[in-house]
Amino acid sequence: MSSKSDQYARQAGDWTEKAYADAAAYLAHRAELIATLGPSLAPGDEVLDLACGDAGLGEPLVARGFRYRGVDATPEMVAEAQRRLGDRASIEIGDLNEYTPPTPVAATTVFRALYYARDRRAFFTHVAAFTEKKVVFDLNPRQYRPDDVSADLRAAGFGQVQLRPFFVPQTVALPRLVVTSAKALERSGPFAQLALRFRFTYVVAASR
Ligand SMILES: C[S@@+](CC[C@H](N)C(=O)[O-])C[C@H]1O[C@@H](n2cnc3c(N)ncnc32)[C@H](O)[C@@H]1O
Repeated sequence: MSSKSDQYARQAGDWTEKAYADAAAYLAHRAELIATLGPSLAPGDEVLDLACGDAGLGEPLVARGFRYRGVDATPEMVAEAQRRLGDRASIEIGDLNEYTPPTPVAATTVFRALYYARDRRAFFTHVAAFTEKKVVFDLNPRQYRPDDVSADLRAAGFGQVQLRPFFVPQTVALPRLVVTSAKALERSGPFAQLALRFRFTYVVAASR
């Protein structure tokens, strides 16, 4: 097992609580964008969350009426995810590069884990084979060029690519009113572009 895997195994017990200063606000906003960015999801749609960690994202997705299938490569994360969601979800061990769900899903998500795709274009092509509406993931534009990622999505058959800045901070808990303002700034055009040069990520929704 690599040292990174060891680290995830050790962190599994309180991953969501430690990784997100205000997990409820942060993950609710992520779930909102999964539901609404690009083609809308409908209640009953299944969301496959690859590299799901302890499935903190499963809570707000299930609360929105979606079916949730989480997959992670770390057994300790899978155990925590199963403990968190019980019979409200399907949680399995698997590698995002190879995992195929038993039936097609409406949406596939990959958060804070796109860098585990061995070959990004091949990964998107694999996901396209079982994803009916869209693939949704976060993108740090200081790490990967959005144009390069869009080209890989298009090559995989996802011709429609939407990017939305995501300004709810991960490591700082803000008062609710400030969170509302931060979300409004996500649509602020030039200001949002400037902020993304230094901090924050996009959420990307790609569909056919
Ligand atoms: C930074 S955490 C992100 C967890 C969760 N998606 C989130 O946003 O909080 C990365 C996760 O990817 C998982 N992981 C690493 N390599 C993987 C792979 N090849 N396939 C599936 N999961 C993997 C780790 O076990 C860990 O739970």
